[in-house]
Amino acid sequence: MRKFLVAGNWKMNTNRQSGVALAAEMAAVAKTGEPGVEVLVCPPYPYLLPVADALKGSAVSLGAQDVYFEAPGAFTGAVAVEMLKDCGCQYVILGHSERRHVMGETDEVINRKVRAALRGGLKVILCVGELLKEREGGLTEKVLDTQMQGGLADVSEQDAGQIVIAYEPVWAIGTGVTATPEQAESAHEHLRKWLTSRYNATFSGQMQILYGGSVKADNAESLLGQSNVDGALVGGASLKAASFVPIIEAARKLWK
Ligand code: 13P
Repeated sequence: MRKFLVAGNWKMNTNRQSGVALAAEMAAVAKTGEPGVEVLVCPPYPYLLPVADALKGSAVSLGAQDVYFEAPGAFTGAVAVEMLKDCGCQYVILGHSERRHVMGETDEVINRKVRAALRGGLKVILCVGELLKEREGGLTEKVLDTQMQGGLADVSEQDAGQIVIAYEPVWAIGTGVTATPEQAESAHEHLRKWLTSRYNATFSGQMQILYGGSVKADNAESLLGQSNVDGALVGGASLKAASFVPIIEAARKLWK
């Protein structure tokens, strides 16, 4: 059975004090590793080190929200894979809809980042998802196929073993409108089929596919209870332990 991954994407939120306090609360909730549920937090770059300190000795994993694909050098403002590793990151989120639609990242740029991160030994959470107008136009699966094909270009089966997919319909991000469990399951099933045809059924069956988009305490269990939903990538609700912990608890309950 695939493990659950419950990941908090803090986006451009928190400060040093509140980020460290939140990390310490998460560390207390996930003190020891559990077989079925991994907890991950992804703070902004400047807080990676103090958050890593606060997580020390716990089972909470650390991730970043983006990375640049070049090796260290003259790239003002950019952060390299080696630097994230040096700060204690195991994961990096790539292809998030805000990077795609606010910062204008293309599938080609995302793919370069994916390959650089994997080369450098980071696990990748590759985000894909359609806009509302694409869903309404019946284009959801086509958009997902294009983003998967672009993001995973030239990624071998062996390397892809370090990838987690996150399905985040753009219309559900930060809007309070969540995909129904059926909508999520249908997209996840489609993604798994895509993975089967690109790689193979064994590999596809092992890959974690997270759902993201207005995940909250009251919808977590029904979303995570879908057979192809292997966790959640949580934005707003990950900024307070009181709203994030119930999502972790929902995964723990389903795992039992
Ligand atoms: P919200 O949970 O705030 O909708 O954000 C989802 C998201 O974008 C996580 O990466």
